[in-house]
Amino acid sequence: MAATIGSDPHRAAALLTAGKLVALPTETVYGLGANALDPKAVSEIFRVKNRPRFDPLIIHQYTAERLFRHVTEVPVEARLLAEACWPGPLTLVLPKAEHIPDMVTAGLSTVATRVPAHPLCREVLALLDFPVAAPSANPFGFVSPVTARHVADQLGEELEYILDGGSATVGLESTIVGFPAGVPTVFRKGGWPVEQIAEIIGAELEVKTHGSSQPQAPGMLSSHYSPGIPLRLLAHEEKYEPGKDRAVICFGPDFPVELPFYNLSHSGDLKEAARNLFTYLRAIATAGYAEVGIRLVPERGLGRAINDRLRRAAAGGQE
Ligand code: TXA
Ligand code: MG
Repeated sequence: MAATIGSDPHRAAALLTAGKLVALPTETVYGLGANALDPKAVSEIFRVKNRPRFDPLIIHQYTAERLFRHVTEVPVEARLLAEACWPGPLTLVLPKAEHIPDMVTAGLSTVATRVPAHPLCREVLALLDFPVAAPSANPFGFVSPVTARHVADQLGEELEYILDGGSATVGLESTIVGFPAGVPTVFRKGGWPVEQIAEIIGAELEVKTHGSSQPQAPGMLSSHYSPGIPLRLLAHEEKYEPGKDRAVICFGPDFPVELPFYNLSHSGDLKEAARNLFTYLRAIATAGYAEVGIRLVPERGLGRAINDRLRRAAAGGQE
């Protein structure tokens, strides 16, 4: 079976209702969706992605009101964030309601929730009376897809339908915030800058985003974004001459835009850099370079999440 790539939200909704998997566009990355209340459908997600069962999923719905039916408690900071950031690239981890299958949350007492902003995805969600569990639509350990073609290349044989919503406009996964022991905590840096989240809740957040030793975010293994080639972080002033078999990932007007310079944004725009990042990592993975140097982007706003993914890519294959 090879997936059909199309743009019919009704077909996507009908397949999801029938217990099938559908790849869906979101503003962050493409998701591999299933009815979150149907354990058989959810178990298909884990099989198709080859994802370990200990790595919990995010549930998506059309509005915060619909989503909050599946949690038992919404702290005041979560309510502020939902109002300010949804629909958008933020995921809130909240205490789960009994009826959410354990398979979705990997047995945790909390569930990750998000209202996505992509208009075509929202059309699908509006048609459904259940939440959609959706991890990024890539095999476990690979870079997240930001186009329907990326999904088809890796998972096309396993899917009946890929809903094509064009290139993801954010290009990085959502920022994940939870409230362990009542403390606002960032579990993953992503498409909503942490500085802005702090401003919205009027407090600094704890940041607990790394390592496999952390059961709340087991998906954040350091090798999680490895494209399978030797990537090396360059020291700030380190000289590095790219050539035929050496490329460099860089950012800003000081660097050319022609290959082997993978300039994330020549104009120095972090949003543009976020949109380009995963497409560049995919291109690099198949280009056959012997080595690729990485110059990090400025560590502010979206730059924090971009650097997080670049560091993980450089640490690739070690876990
Ligand atoms: O932007 C996104 O978030 C995309 C789109 C499709 O919505 N989804 C996505 O899902 O990136 P995934 O499965 O690739 O990453 C979900 C992350 C994992 O790192 C997982 O460990 C974490 O969310 N997570 C899920 N449930 C959690 C929970 N209850 N507590 C803490 N982290 C959780
Ligand atoms: Mg993922």
